[in-house]
Amino acid sequence: MDFIANRSLSLLYGSISAVLALVFFSIVQKRKSESRRIPPGPRGLPLFGNALQMPKETPWLTFAEWSKIYGDVFYINVFGTSVIILNSMKAAKELLDKRSAVYSDRPKLNMASLCGYDRTFTLQSYGHEWRQQRKLVVQEFHPTHCQDYYALQDERAAAVVHKILQDPSRLTYAKMQIVNCPRQIGAVILRAAYGYTVQSEDDPWLKTGLEMMHEFDLATTLGNFTVDFIPWIKYIPAWVPGASFQKKAQQWRKNYDRVAWEPLTWTKNNWESGRAVMPNMCGNIYEAAGGQLGQEVETRLAYALPGVLGGGLDTNVTTALSFFMAMILYPEVQMKAQAKLDRVVGKERLPSVSDRPNLPYIRSIMAEVYRWAPAGPLSVPHAPNHDDEYDGMLIPKGSMIIPNVWHILHNANDYPDPMAFIPERYNGRDAEMDKVRNVAFGFGRRICPGMHFAEGTFFAIVATTLATCDILPGLDENGQVALPKYAFTSSIVRFVFRCHLMHGTVV
Ligand code: HEM
Repeated sequence: MDFIANRSLSLLYGSISAVLALVFFSIVQKRKSESRRIPPGPRGLPLFGNALQMPKETPWLTFAEWSKIYGDVFYINVFGTSVIILNSMKAAKELLDKRSAVYSDRPKLNMASLCGYDRTFTLQSYGHEWRQQRKLVVQEFHPTHCQDYYALQDERAAAVVHKILQDPSRLTYAKMQIVNCPRQIGAVILRAAYGYTVQSEDDPWLKTGLEMMHEFDLATTLGNFTVDFIPWIKYIPAWVPGASFQKKAQQWRKNYDRVAWEPLTWTKNNWESGRAVMPNMCGNIYEAAGGQLGQEVETRLAYALPGVLGGGLDTNVTTALSFFMAMILYPEVQMKAQAKLDRVVGKERLPSVSDRPNLPYIRSIMAEVYRWAPAGPLSVPHAPNHDDEYDGMLIPKGSMIIPNVWHILHNANDYPDPMAFIPERYNGRDAEMDKVRNVAFGFGRRICPGMHFAEGTFFAIVATTLATCDILPGLDENGQVALPKYAFTSSIVRFVFRCHLMHGTVV
């Protein structure tokens, strides 16, 4: 009896202790999960999350508004994908620069992977292959090597001016149309990447490249393809009715392979027969290896090179168009820059990229364009490779981390009167300009590897245009000054479009 009573008692005590332990454990867990809560953000709907609240246009402005309610770091959920928006310099620098060992991955984009775009390091996971591909581009576009391309950049900038003077309306960027600015910037990039000279308005390489970039843009825009939110449907074969995304992916993959392999083979053949126009990235790498790259390195090079075209064309074009826009809206800046150019370069010759160190006001204009109208207002998303914590908030592994570059560069504390175009705000100090560059060209280990090369192309266009033209708004049918109408697209790179009312006059 006693034995039974003792047993019941010990069972009772045992159960009580187990319940207490459970309660204690769940309190600790709750505290822990509360202290590691995900960042605040707008309330969403089941399944959809915040997808229906996502702005179709200028999302950087909506995110800036939301940051007033939810703080500098907030969370949204797009059909189950965790997205964290960083709205302050402090948060972006802390996570993406200082903790770059954690935040250098890219979010997984299923449609882009089906198209094979993740074979290029721009979208590749942080790891060995990404490092090897990136190294090829970083070496080639290192500041010391960039000097090899100054003459090319100067020559193409002169061509931009020449063409604008012939027909100012062809400055505009219309998607898929090779008009003046994209054509000349595309010519710089294809020449530097492959030693290829763009021939005509409808150059086949540029055309295929632009088509590829358009497809890339569609495939990487979140919300365009269900497979980005329901990953298992990627296993549905292309012949199943409704799986049209698979057919599209096959087609786009084929186009991407063409963009990767055709120019590479052309350059290789030219190098072997001594006809290659050197220097160029592809030819330089064959030359350094005595023409013997081996299959692995050749494949690596083939897929690294479209990253140069894809990373460099749209960004440089939109930056140049924003510059023209700023000059039309701020004629006093234009006149001041022209006076500086006259003083330093004189009127006997055209400016060259090598004049850059002597022209701090032109460098200030460039920095102000990057700030005022960043080409990538939401940059390219990063992803953490493990769970992390910031300010007591949980940043889940694999979430899409988007720095709101536009908002960071329009913060009135750092940049008083942020909507105005004021190159004087840098006082000619490169350290201040670098603060803008180091946001506009991305962060940490993913920072743009073509930055120094891009700056050469942009400088050449800015200096050559200002030295030879007055950039003025056009006139309407009544002969009245008509400021250009402009708007921005909302993909990774934004374009100023409908900016076609500039005319140049030779000074
Ligand atoms: C004004 C011109 C340019 C701007 C504003 C710009 C901006 C950027 C930005 C914001 C990123 C994302 C960085 C990040 O993830 O944090 C990036 C990445 C990249 N850019 Fe540029 N870029 C420009 C020109 C170029 C040029 C000329 C090239 C080629 C030579 C290039 C090649 C790339 C590549 C390959 C990446 C991906 C890097 C990686 O994921 O590791 N860009 N760029």
